[in-house]
Parts: sequence; structure tokens; C-alpha cells
Amino acid sequence: MHTLREIPDLRTTLNHYRRHGQRIGLVPTMGNLHAGHLALVAAARERCDVVVTTIFVNPLQFGPGEDLAAYPRTLSDDQAQLEAAGCDLLFAPAVDAVYPRPLESQTRIRVPEISEGLCGGSRPGHFDGVATIVAMLFNLVQPDLACFGQKDYQQLAVIRRLVADLHFPVEIVGVPIVRAEDGLALSSRNGYLETHQRIIAPRLYSILCELRQRLEDGADVDSTLAEGLACLEETGFVPDYLELRAEDLGPVTATTHDAILLAAARLGTTRLIDNQPLVLP
Ligand code: PAJ
Repeated sequence: MHTLREIPDLRTTLNHYRRHGQRIGLVPTMGNLHAGHLALVAAARERCDVVVTTIFVNPLQFGPGEDLAAYPRTLSDDQAQLEAAGCDLLFAPAVDAVYPRPLESQTRIRVPEISEGLCGGSRPGHFDGVATIVAMLFNLVQPDLACFGQKDYQQLAVIRRLVADLHFPVEIVGVPIVRAEDGLALSSRNGYLETHQRIIAPRLYSILCELRQRLEDGADVDSTLAEGLACLEETGFVPDYLELRAEDLGPVTATTHDAILLAAARLGTTRLIDNQPLVLP
């Protein structure tokens, strides 16, 4: 696997593959890789001739007071994992290669409506930063396909909308959530959890599963969600949101069947997110 840090080198290398008619798959990440990221690499590997992973801790998607400086940077360990997973090319640029000018004057992409509420409600500007870097990576790599995790459900929806609205010729593949044995969705931020918090953390998943079952059995939505919030609080979480939406993140109506239950909750300063698809009666 080659690691490239400069945009011109990336372009030259990819032109070579493209001239040979190879199908290129992109896996954008912020590094500190775990089995969740590697599932995306495997999904791209199955579908493409060349797999390009990017590692870039994107300052544009972090709000003031968020964990940009503390975000774990583990490049050599990440390289070893990518190599073993069959990734062909790693693009790991420096911040000023991506954003040569001050961030305030950076052109931004905003995907309205779908970026608002849920994580967009508690992280203003976050999805503008995500949409901007992902559009930039699509321009730089010009992949045939790109893989994103269903763990970041709203992010995946924002990217699907971005691709549709800007007519990017990129197929988007959503990859199921990879979990630890106890059910906790794998996340680079799990490493922030203290021992006692790590014991509580998988309850986010088990509570979502319990609520899913009740909603599928026809329980009243509002009271089920209110009880869910209370249960999260009793368990030690500070919930950010717990919402039921249609699978496209629109509101649930009388005719909605395919729905998604989404939650974000804090344990101390660590913010965890998770979701459960469900079928309403
Ligand atoms: P990051 O948090 O590093 O995640 C990179 C990709 O891995 C995302 O598509 C995310 O949904 C997926 N992923 C993370 N944990 C997962 C899990 N347990 N199971 C399945 N997939 C998982 O998301 C970002 O980076 C950034 O916002 C990015 C898209 C790279 C833009 O900067």
C-alpha cells in the first residue's frame, strides 16, 4: 500500500489507474481505525479494483469546544490495518494541503433540511464541514463508488442528498454498523470512555433494541420515546436526542412503515450515537 500526502501525487497515481479502466472505491475516514472502518474497506474491496482510503481529521466539521485537538491520531497503526485489509492507496494529507487558506474563507457546501436537527441540531455547522470535505474528496479521487457507515445515519443521508443534488457520478454504499461483543457500536470516541463509562455504554444499544421491539409491537410513539429518555437518564446518560423518523429522516406519518430510531447521548464528555431500523405496524 502506498501512502500519499500531496494532492498532485494523488492525482497522478489515480490517473494511472483510471487510464487502465480500473474501478476506484473511496473510503473516507478520520483515522484511528477499528473494525467498523475496516468493514467499509472490505465493502469497497469487494466492489472495486482499487481501494483508496483517506485519513484526514477535518477541522471544518469540529465546532468550538469539540475534540479536534484531542482526536486520536494513530497513523502507523492505521497504515498496518489498512495494508492487512487490502487497501491499495492511503491519502493522508496535512491540513494546509487541503485548506491552504484560512478556514473562515473556505468555500463550503451546505445541504439544507437533512443537515438540520438530530446531530445537526447539537453540532451547528458540523454537516457543512462534512459535506464540504466529502465533495472535495469526490473531486480529488473521482471514485466510482464510496462507502460510508450506517452508524452515522444522518451523515449518510446528507451525503446521499449531496450526491443527488450535485449530480456526482458516485455510487454510495451504506455499510451496516459494526459492534463490540456487548453491542456497543465501534467508534474512535469509545477510547475516551473511562472504565465505569465503558460498562454503561452498551446500554445505549440495548435500550434502543427494547424501544424498537415495543414500537414494532404497536406501542404509542410519544410515550415510548419519553420512557426511553427517562431510561437513558437513569442509566447515567445525558441524552442529546432520541427520535423516531421515517427511514429518509422525514417525519413519521400514519403511512410510515420503514423507520429509524436514532439517539445521541453523553457519558461524561464523550458523545455516543447509535440507531436501530424498524418496521412500524
Ligand atoms: P470517521 O468517524 O472516521 O468514520 C469514517 C467512516 O466509518 C464513516 O462512514 C462512519 O460511518 C464509518 N464508521 C465508523 N464507525 C463505524 C461502525 N461501528 N460501523 C460501521 N461504520 C462505521 O465519519 C467520519 O469519519 C467523517 O465525518 C468523514 C466522513 C470521514 C468526513 O470527514
